[in-house]
Amino acid sequence: MISAKDISKAADLLLSGELVAFPTETVYGLGALATDDKAVARIYAAKGRPTFNPLISHVPDVEAAFALGEFSGDALKLAARFWPGPLTLVVPRWSTCTVSLLASAGLSSLAIRVPQHPIALELLRVVGKPVVAPSANPSGRISPTTAQHVRDGLGNKVSMILDGGPCAVGVESTVVSFLEGKATLLRPGGLPRETIEDALGFRLLDADTGVMHSPGQMESHYAPHAAMRLNAETAMTDEAYLGFGNFDGAHNLSPSGDVVEAAANLFRMLHELDATKPERIAVAPIPMGGLGEAINDRLKRAAAPR
Ligand code: TXA
Ligand code: MG
Repeated sequence: MISAKDISKAADLLLSGELVAFPTETVYGLGALATDDKAVARIYAAKGRPTFNPLISHVPDVEAAFALGEFSGDALKLAARFWPGPLTLVVPRWSTCTVSLLASAGLSSLAIRVPQHPIALELLRVVGKPVVAPSANPSGRISPTTAQHVRDGLGNKVSMILDGGPCAVGVESTVVSFLEGKATLLRPGGLPRETIEDALGFRLLDADTGVMHSPGQMESHYAPHAAMRLNAETAMTDEAYLGFGNFDGAHNLSPSGDVVEAAANLFRMLHELDATKPERIAVAPIPMGGLGEAINDRLKRAAAPR
């Protein structure tokens, strides 16, 4: 259990420029004080992350978000409807915004999110300033959905890890950009595209086909050490199998074929299978609807040539 004392210690560490890993409803974040250039730089160093990849600023409520960037009518609508929750909005930064320019990787926009996790929200309230947090894994590797994943991947590089148990959603937030009057899906994630489009009353543009491009969407990403084979109906002899639906085995993303359950299990099961050091991980076909889009996106990147 996390106590008020743990939260206050974590907040002090953040305020003094140290890195603290904390749970969110999507994945564990590697937090640093967003207004501290040196602390932000430490994140890139700890993850081994290319510096052109910008970070998400986390705040405890919409008011704090509105202080950082300019929300248009549609961005406002999504913020009011879905925050706290697994949604990140990219908006123009106010010229007065105090978030490190390094966190924006030199862009004039800022990615902002209010996470839906009691420990994250309490930590953000106590810190009282925005906290940037990428997923708490070495760059390009599988995202962490438990505190143990963080310890295994970055253990000696963080000052403190707040253990909030496994993450409920299990894939990163959906990233939607509102720049130049266009609503663009930059990254499918924990909030399904359909849910966002229903709220807006129109379709989101696609990053691949549209004008926008998310700097973080590198082809190879979320990669286990083993090679990956997708849409595999069965496993070959040198493969570990990650099933979905009707499959009798230790690693089934969702025996009932539920994509929400599959998202919650995805990164943990990839970690577990990878730890058995197979030649390859073969993954069952996953349907595209709802969170299936985010799951297929992560699998495609995990399988991409490295
Ligand atoms: O669920 C999540 O979003 C987790 C938890 C910890 O909150 N965080 C996370 O952060 O996934 P990260 O750094 O792994 O992914 C941030 C994504 C990247 O794809 C990045 O390119 C995009 O957000 N992004 C950040 N700032 C941006 C900006 N100004 N313009 C466009 N894309 C941006
Ligand atoms: Mg990440």
